[in-house]
Amino acid sequence: MNEKQIIGEKAVDFVEDNMVVGLGTGSTVFYTIRKLGQLVKQGLHITGIPTSIQTEELATKFGIPISKFEDVEQIDIAIDGADEVSSELDLLKGGGGALLREKIVAREAKTFIVVADSSKLVQKLGSFLLPVEVIPFGVGVTKKNIYRLGGNVNLRESKGKPFKTDNGNYILDCSFSDILSPKVLERELNMIPGVVENGLFVEMADTVITVDQENNVVIKKLI
Ligand code: 5RP
Repeated sequence: MNEKQIIGEKAVDFVEDNMVVGLGTGSTVFYTIRKLGQLVKQGLHITGIPTSIQTEELATKFGIPISKFEDVEQIDIAIDGADEVSSELDLLKGGGGALLREKIVAREAKTFIVVADSSKLVQKLGSFLLPVEVIPFGVGVTKKNIYRLGGNVNLRESKGKPFKTDNGNYILDCSFSDILSPKVLERELNMIPGVVENGLFVEMADTVITVDQENNVVIKKLI
């Protein structure tokens, strides 16, 4: 079993009957969703809140009942991957472009579990490009304003065209290398007009599931 499968499947241990479960996006949480689908077939009752169209399709394929966010009273648990996890358990996310819905769901969840293979663990966030979701209107100006904060900025493209998120927005991939204060940068970015959300998830993860060098599962908790 690869690392992503080990930790992705481990995350289902945190899911209990009748929970509303925020379903993240990406290749690690794929294994969580697939495993949850198996458990649903065996009688587990859950309601999934998908964080992307891709995850909605996956959850449906695996037989997980899903609901609209506005139709549930609360989210009991959210499970999602990450592109980087710092020693303080702050996260850099959005490699798959689903950061906005992921953040809304994770913020609302009573418990937020992150599944991150060992390659994602870093001392300081920022080696991975930080995705910032922006509205298409005025993207040039928004780019300039992010650049003024000290980051190189590139419009994400797909097949020669600007990549569009599920919300119809663009992603700017920004290189800030070694982000000294994720909390400050998260706020500064979100204060720029045109920025909808950024991929810094600060003080949000309750638990990170990863593996050590011998492929043993390691559970890290926020102290
Ligand atoms: C998508 C994300 C993903 O959780 C992140 O990119 C990790 O993905 P993977 O599990 O495929 O490595 O933030 O927007």
